[in-house]
Formats: sequence, C-alpha cells, structure tokens
Amino acid sequence: MLYLLETRGLSKVYKETDGGLEILKDVNFQLTEGSIVVLTGASGSGKSTFLNIVGALDKPTGNVIKCADWIIDLGPDAGEHGGYLVAEGTPEQIAKCKKSWTGKFLHSHI
Ligand SMILES: Nc1ncnc2c1ncn2[C@@H]1O[C@H](COP(=O)(O)OP(=O)(O)OP(=O)(O)O)[C@@H](O)[C@H]1O
Ligand SMILES: [Mg+2]
Repeated sequence: MLYLLETRGLSKVYKETDGGLEILKDVNFQLTEGSIVVLTGASGSGKSTFLNIVGALDKPTGNVIKCADWIIDLGPDAGEHGGYLVAEGTPEQIAKCKKSWTGKFLHSHI
C-alpha cells in the first residue's frame, strides 16, 4: 500500500547533548490519505522532533539501510577482493545472506 507519509524505524539522537539524547526510537508510522491524525505526548516527548523530520527540516539518525526499499550489496570484501554482486533484495532478505557483511550487520537490527 502506498501511504501519504511513512516512517520505518525512525530514530533521532541529539548528539550535542551530553552523552547523546535518543529522543525517537524505532518509530514506525503510516499516514493514509484523507485521515485526520492528532500527535499527542508529554512536553519533551519528541513531537516537534518528529514533525521536523517528516517535514524535512531535520534529518533522522541512522537506520537508512534498514529502511531502504532495495539494497544492492557489492563485495565480498574491499579493493581487489570486491567488485562482485554479493546480494540484492529487501533489508530482510539481505539480513539472511550469510555471505554479506551488510547482511551480518542487519541481522542484529531487524
Ligand atoms: N536541537 C536540539 N538539541 C538537543 N536537544 C533537543 C533539541 N531539540 C529538542 N531537544 C530535546 O529533545 C526532547 C524532545 O523535544 P521536542 O521539542 O521534540 O518535544 P515536544 O514533544 O515537541 O515538546 P513540547 O510539547 O514542549 O513542544 C526534549 O528533551 C528537548 O529538550
Ligand atoms: Mg513541540
């Protein structure tokens, strides 16, 4: 289904804050066209942070690979040991590919 707006695993860390402040944690949200949505939460819970990101005024932190529609993974290693198509597919498919370094990383994040 195509949504008017969709976030997958949305994460935001304010790194400037001492020790980093992780304010959005794996937010998955779909907005269907024509729906009326109210965003609620205590002061400081991340509402403005969320709206700034979906409105493209700010950037999310990480999770870009996990949230991709399709991954093309080249390797298997660096330099002369690379250059081959190791795997391609959705993040879930790549996570199952034991030959892929990206897959090994994704496995613990999906
Ligand atoms: N640019 C920033 N740098 C560091 N921390 C920030 C920044 N913007 C917001 N924060 C912190 O992130 C948390 C969430 O802030 P945010 O403004 O998203 O909350 P909110 O839900 O919109 O709150 P309110 O209801 O008061 O508007 C708060 O602890 C806030 O202090
Ligand atoms: Mg706010």
